[in-house]
Amino acid sequence: MVPAILETGDGVTAVAHPNIALVKYWGKRDESLILPATGSLSMTLNLYPTTTTVRLTTRAPADSVTMNSRPAPRQTHLRVERFLNTVRAFTGRDERAVVETTNTVPTGAGLASSASGFAALATAAATAFGLELDPRALSRLARRGSGSACRSIFGGLVVWHAGTGDGAAGDRSSYAEPIDAEGLDPALIIAVVDPAPKAMSSREAMRRTIATSPFYLPWTTVNATDLDAMRAAVARADLDAMGEIAERSAFGMHATMLAARPPIRYLSPLSLSVLDRVVALRADGITAYATMDAGPNVKVLCARTDATRIAAAISAVGQHISTHVALPGPGAALLPGGGS
Ligand code: PMV
Repeated sequence: MVPAILETGDGVTAVAHPNIALVKYWGKRDESLILPATGSLSMTLNLYPTTTTVRLTTRAPADSVTMNSRPAPRQTHLRVERFLNTVRAFTGRDERAVVETTNTVPTGAGLASSASGFAALATAAATAFGLELDPRALSRLARRGSGSACRSIFGGLVVWHAGTGDGAAGDRSSYAEPIDAEGLDPALIIAVVDPAPKAMSSREAMRRTIATSPFYLPWTTVNATDLDAMRAAVARADLDAMGEIAERSAFGMHATMLAARPPIRYLSPLSLSVLDRVVALRADGITAYATMDAGPNVKVLCARTDATRIAAAISAVGQHISTHVALPGPGAALLPGGGS
């Protein structure tokens, strides 16, 4: 059923949260379909929602994109437009979209703003364009905007199956799905050491790593076994094992980048100070393990009951560090009244 064409004024609004990978995705086997080289596993956060409204119009000649009430930067605009072209191609419809997004997470700082951004956009745009997708299909659509966005379609702990393809031959094997986390009560402390956008996008950094790093291929092999080990650790609610695997997956990913030519280094002196504090907390018998993404900010996996005191210990590392305690958050959803 094709809904009536919406004119500006009507709109579909969706909200989504970022996710942080505990087993990392780093590198694409197919850039245009955004098929990852490896599977990954993440936790969706209950912090930093992105809220996105999509209105369709037959009156405007082009899509328009505003972020936090300002015209989106050119690169972001182009990415959103490319994503909307994918949606238009799926539906055979050609209306333009007016996209308004409000991001509460620092953008481009390795804090998964693209994950919440494209999960919210996919959810709102699919409904606005009359695509009736189940959550798995929606995760495949969000993946086309930003790989990690497919995991933000779901709440809690989520696995993204690497898969082998998407499209013509009916291969739909690269999708995300939630996993059971019974018996676990995890928290992730987000330690913001620098909220500024990173110098190199993850897309660009992945490309260079694959093309030049001698450590990349071995990392992909290790990551596959890490994903199996992580799923087993989650199934037995073993937070320490999860933390050990998360740390080695993240540090392994950063090692591939450090060995790229020229090297890519997202870690800053303040990141290292936070990592030292995490090691010190562990030496005191506290379950705390670090992970990092494409930026200098550090996330610390711990038990919810320890989160407040660990956050305080990390804040004390330096006066410019702010900490935020994140718990497992919800999947992407339409806001009430936000249907067509
Ligand atoms: O989907 P992207 O381009 O934002 O990829 C980000 C990849 C990492 O955040 C570094 C790791 C991950 O699995 O989220």
